[in-house]
Amino acid sequence: MSTPTEVLKSEHRAIEKVIATMGWVGRALSERKRVDPYLIEEIADFMGNFADKCHHGKEERVLFKWMEQKGVPKEGGPIGVMLYEHELGRSYRKAIVEALPSYREGSLEAAEVIAENAQAYANMLSQHIMKEDNILFKIADELMTEKDDEIFLMENFEKVEKEIMGKGEHERLLKLADKIASVLKE
Ligand SMILES: [Fe+2]
Ligand SMILES: [Fe+2]
Repeated sequence: MSTPTEVLKSEHRAIEKVIATMGWVGRALSERKRVDPYLIEEIADFMGNFADKCHHGKEERVLFKWMEQKGVPKEGGPIGVMLYEHELGRSYRKAIVEALPSYREGSLEAAEVIAENAQAYANMLSQHIMKEDNILFKIADELMTEKDDEIFLMENFEKVEKEIMGKGEHERLLKLADKIASVLKE
């Protein structure tokens, strides 16, 4: 059975597939190339529902809260930085979603907004994942001294899946990640 941080790390691998395409989209748009707006919509869907609702949901509502209870301070430490970066990601995604209708109508300005935010989002999120994999999750693993800790975290991850995500949504989004990633192989 996977440990709680292994679950989150495997979600990072799915998110990285979409980050690669998102970075490519940002670069293509900054070179004034046309990108299918539907692909941008799919990336925003994945980032909003999988990266944010599902994955950051598990981190913010479950893992980080548990780490705080174990004595890791929220402010002035890695948890505070992670929370700030989740917010930053939300603002990049919001800017992309808001520019999308004008982009569909051919606005060059909207293409620039999406280019900038997609590149910033991709860079920030790949760094963010590296920090979690190499620093934050190591701290969390050291705090997981009892089998009960793992059971508590896994049960609450399940709750996020059931209550916030709904049935079949996790699988739909994992398939969507592969579809988005396949664009780079074409
Ligand atoms: Fe995170
Ligand atoms: Fe994460």
